[in-house]
Amino acid sequence: MDMDKLVSLCKRRGFIFPSSEIYGGINGFWDYGPLGVELKRNIKDAWWRDNVHARDDMVGLDCSIIMNPKVWEASGHVGGFSDPMSTCRQCKRLFRTDQVWDQLQESDWFQSLVATGRDSQSLAQWAAKKGKKLAPGLALVRNPTEILSWLAERARTQPDEPIDAKTFVQYLATEQDARTGLVLPCPNCGGDLTEPRNFNLMFETHVGAVADEASKAYLRPETAQGIFANFKNVVDTGRVKVPFGIAQVGKSFRNEITPRNFTFRSREFEQMEIEFFCRPEESATWYKYWRDTRFQWYVDHGLRSDRLRIRDHDPGELSFYSTATADIEYGFPFGVSELEGIAHRGDYDLTQHQKYSGKDLGYFDEERKERYVPHVIEPSAGADRAALAFLCEAYTEDEIGGEARTVLKFHPRLAPIKAAIFPLVKKDGMPEKAQAIEREMKRRFPVFYDEKGAIGRRYRRQDEAGTPFCITVDGQTLTDDTVTVRDRDSCRQWRVPSAGVARALQDLLEGQPIPGDE
Ligand code: GAP
Repeated sequence: MDMDKLVSLCKRRGFIFPSSEIYGGINGFWDYGPLGVELKRNIKDAWWRDNVHARDDMVGLDCSIIMNPKVWEASGHVGGFSDPMSTCRQCKRLFRTDQVWDQLQESDWFQSLVATGRDSQSLAQWAAKKGKKLAPGLALVRNPTEILSWLAERARTQPDEPIDAKTFVQYLATEQDARTGLVLPCPNCGGDLTEPRNFNLMFETHVGAVADEASKAYLRPETAQGIFANFKNVVDTGRVKVPFGIAQVGKSFRNEITPRNFTFRSREFEQMEIEFFCRPEESATWYKYWRDTRFQWYVDHGLRSDRLRIRDHDPGELSFYSTATADIEYGFPFGVSELEGIAHRGDYDLTQHQKYSGKDLGYFDEERKERYVPHVIEPSAGADRAALAFLCEAYTEDEIGGEARTVLKFHPRLAPIKAAIFPLVKKDGMPEKAQAIEREMKRRFPVFYDEKGAIGRRYRRQDEAGTPFCITVDGQTLTDDTVTVRDRDSCRQWRVPSAGVARALQDLLEGQPIPGDE
């Protein structure tokens, strides 16, 4: 699937727009349009229903985005929530140091350079022409004679050692003695990058009228800490007993250095997080339970292809307090990336907050008459990443009756519109009949009425919006009071009495097979 096609469909059909687009946009921020807001809401509602309402060991929470800054000292975010960052001395752009190589490989100038060949003559020609336009900051372009002489010397002194693409570009980018301290160049202009500096990803703000150190606060970078900070409040309300979980859905903010890949890495995004508290000796069992349950949730909602996978972290990758972590990953067109992380966090968070707040966050087990700090399993998902994965998986181009169409094959639970209702033509009482069906259905689920244009075109518009069923009032309706139901994926059509169509649709949306598929 081509990412550009999906981005363009999202814009054209009102799923996702660049934020503040009329002012040129703002990097890393996105708006959900009329269809997108329904899709994301359906994802969050399905998550909440399955994890909170359908269980008797989970309660919800909705806490403030700005919290006492001590929360972020205790959690480690003030001290350690940072990425290494380099700035280009020539064009002043910022890059995450650990992503420079990936970005370089995608850059136009690097691809043009690689296609050129490695002999001195071709490189000199490239530097004088294409390089001047595409990579004016590259040492090879600024100082070709010197750089080519380093390269020649290397070929003379190490004739048998092949030079890989990364080292090669480093040679062309490094102005000092190229035998020591090779550096990667700027993916934008080829210029020199500064040494990495740590850059804290939390957005800062000030609370109150005076903007000084004392009034400094942060926009939360995760919803999780609000849950830990309220652990005692929730336990004291008396509704819960370990093992139990607290769930929260809400906005989080990270000043990502390189927001990229559409909504995948944004600066403002929504998380769906659970902190599940359990006895230490039961924590391994609960970890396995959440790891498997969360994976199955994506499968049940339509991520059925082998693009969905789960990756257990190697011991070397784990945080010092974690005994196990797994990532649920999806093979996006831009690469395999994380949708959700499930982490065994031990008693780290509650213990930290206990230390920083001075409040006892232990749990008293009434039956066993013992006090302990529960262990935590944290399934932490992103609503925007889930929406993007569902969009990618749903996007299909196929051919029906010799005509090409684009269709979003969403799971009915997630589809923004559940059914569209059409009169075949705008006369003979068909619009009135179709509108009466629309009114009846609207009480149950979101539907869309459309009487404009050829019927085939109306079907295709709904296919692109991911609407699972279309209902058409036609000539036969006027004689036998039946309507046509059309299935989005197979394009199969059948008739049902118009009086029972809302009920029939409800059954189909809840998973009843379509006629012919039973
Ligand atoms: N409390 C744990 C935590 O926040 P994380 O792996 O940093 O863990 C959890 O984030 C999830 O939040 C990710 O798996 C992803 O779905 C989502 N997420 C994180 N950063 C994001 C970003 N910049 N843009 C969109 N989603 C993001």
